[in-house]
Formats: sequence, structure tokens, C-alpha cells
Amino acid sequence: MAQSSDSAATSLFEQTMVSATAKVEAALGQFLPRAEGPESRLFEAMRYAIFAGGKRFRPFLVCESAKLFDVRSESALRAAAAVECVHTYSLVHDDLPCMDDDDLRRGQPTVHRKFDEATAVLAGDALLTLAFDLLADPETHERARVRIELVRRLAEAAGGHGMVGGQMIDLASEGVTLDIGSITRLQRLKTGALIAFACEAGAVLGRASDEALHALHAYAHDMGLAYQIADDLLDAEGDAAIVGKATHKDAEAGKATFVSILGAERARAQARMLSDQAIQHLDLFDEKADLLREAARFVINRRN
Ligand code: IPE
Ligand code: IPE
Ligand code: MG
Ligand code: MG
Ligand code: MG
Repeated sequence: MAQSSDSAATSLFEQTMVSATAKVEAALGQFLPRAEGPESRLFEAMRYAIFAGGKRFRPFLVCESAKLFDVRSESALRAAAAVECVHTYSLVHDDLPCMDDDDLRRGQPTVHRKFDEATAVLAGDALLTLAFDLLADPETHERARVRIELVRRLAEAAGGHGMVGGQMIDLASEGVTLDIGSITRLQRLKTGALIAFACEAGAVLGRASDEALHALHAYAHDMGLAYQIADDLLDAEGDAAIVGKATHKDAEAGKATFVSILGAERARAQARMLSDQAIQHLDLFDEKADLLREAARFVINRRN
């Protein structure tokens, strides 16, 4: 049967991103509390933050890595929703006046602009804790050991030795010139750690070998760094209307980034090198990992 020109023009990667987005958004719609009762403002803000948009790249990574180990899609979607809750909470707090002070996120007013600062803090807190509730539920996996392993790994990735630690260094480094090693560490913590969890969650759910887990970790380590370099390039060169958030903020705030230290061209070359390296880490997987290979190319070519 002839393919329609639309589906021919859309790659399997794009189609899979779209379908993973639809599935995780349906799951999130079910898991997020409904806006009722005297605390309804909190629940409205949580839903607003989650459904404002977003690429849902981390949920896609969870779903694709889970497919390598034939994990039930309901289990993968719970882990995917948990990662998106943590990621969205991190953005809500990152945008607060005491942090990056941003008014636009995912093309919409930031949560503290739409609601107020206290509500934004609380919505972030509740999204973070909801993530652990989702993982700890027996629906996620029948074995308690697997659920505990996911909870522990997410806590490590999101906490002081992961994303939150990275955010602290990011703020402390404003106006300071860092060397490339220190910037690499900052970026790996603030962005890489959660992306690594997204890539490893499927392997944990599928009780994969240590070798497979290490390969996915190494893949995520390089791809996650490339992802943040691309974010820094979009800040320096992107169009706010397409990126969905204000641009040229990093230089203004004196943020330490790969772009600030290397310049755009060398930062771009570094991101390309990391993307190639990430793909090589997937050599032990067959064509089932092809969309993860595509994902490593997507991160450096994305426009938002
Ligand atoms: C933005 O993440 C912040 C970073 C850690 C780079 P994304 O670019 O994945 O943001 P959304 O989820 O698509 O809005
Ligand atoms: C934030 O990095 C990473 C997080 C952990 C939220 P940025 O501050 O560069 O993210 P954007 O550019 O605001 O999305
Ligand atoms: Mg920030
Ligand atoms: Mg920011
Ligand atoms: Mg940024």
C-alpha cells in the first residue's frame, strides 16, 4: 500500500516521539491530582506546569530503553511520568526570581508569573514527591527490590549529589570563570544525572545485565552533556519564539557554560563529538537501540 506523503516525510524517530508524548501525557493526566478542595490552587499549578508543553524527551528515553528489555509498557510509563514530574519541578524552581528569574517557559508564562511564588514552590515540591509515590507503587513493578532500586537511583540523580547539587554550582558560579573540567561536572550534575536515570530506568525494570546498564549509563553520560551544551547554544543563538523561553540570559547572568568558555563553534564541535561517542556506547545492542542512536543525533540538532 502506498504511504501518504505525510507519514513518508515523518521519520520513525519523530513518530515515536509523538506517540510516547501522547502516552505519557495520558498517564500524567491520570496520576496528577484533580483540582478540588481548598488546596485546588496547588493542583491547578501542578497541571499547568506539566501540560504547558515540553518535548517529553526524558519520558521518550525511559520508554525506548525499556523496549530493549521487553518491559511492560505500563511499568515504563509510570517511570517515564515520574521522571517528567521531577524534570518539570526542576524547571518551575529554576525559573523562580531567586534562581534564573524567568517569565516564559514552554512558550507560556512561568508558574510563579501565572500563579504566585509560593504556589510555584509548592507545586514543585508536590511534583517531586509525586514522582517517588509513582515509583514506589506496586503497579510499577511486582518486585519491591526493583521499586526500591528505582527510588534510590532517582533520589541520587535528583538530589544534592545530582541535579540539585548542579543547580547550586550553577548559581554559585555566576560571574566566575570556571575551567572546562568544572563546567563539565556542573552540567553533568544539573542535567546529565536525570537524563542518566531516564536511560537506566528501563534496564532496572527489565532486570538487565550490569553490562547493559553500564552501556546505557555511558551513553547517557555523553548524550546528557551534549543536551545541555545544545541548551546553552540555543540560549546564545536561538529564537525565543521557537525555543519557548527567553534567550541571551546566560551571558547576561554571567553563567558558566561551554559556550562562555569555548565560544559557539567549539561548543558545537564538542556536542557533536559527545553525540558520536554516545552512539558508540550502544554497540552491544542490536537495531532495537536505533531510536536511542537517533536520539543522540536529535539532541544536537534540535531547535527548541
Ligand atoms: C530544559 O530542558 C532544561 C535543561 C535541563 C536543558 P528541556 O529542553 O528538556 O525542556 P522541556 O521539557 O522540553 O521544556
Ligand atoms: C536548568 O538549566 C537545568 C535544570 C536542572 C532545571 P537552565 O537554567 O539552563 O535551563 P533553562 O535554560 O532555564 O531551561
Ligand atoms: Mg538555571
Ligand atoms: Mg534557567
Ligand atoms: Mg539554559
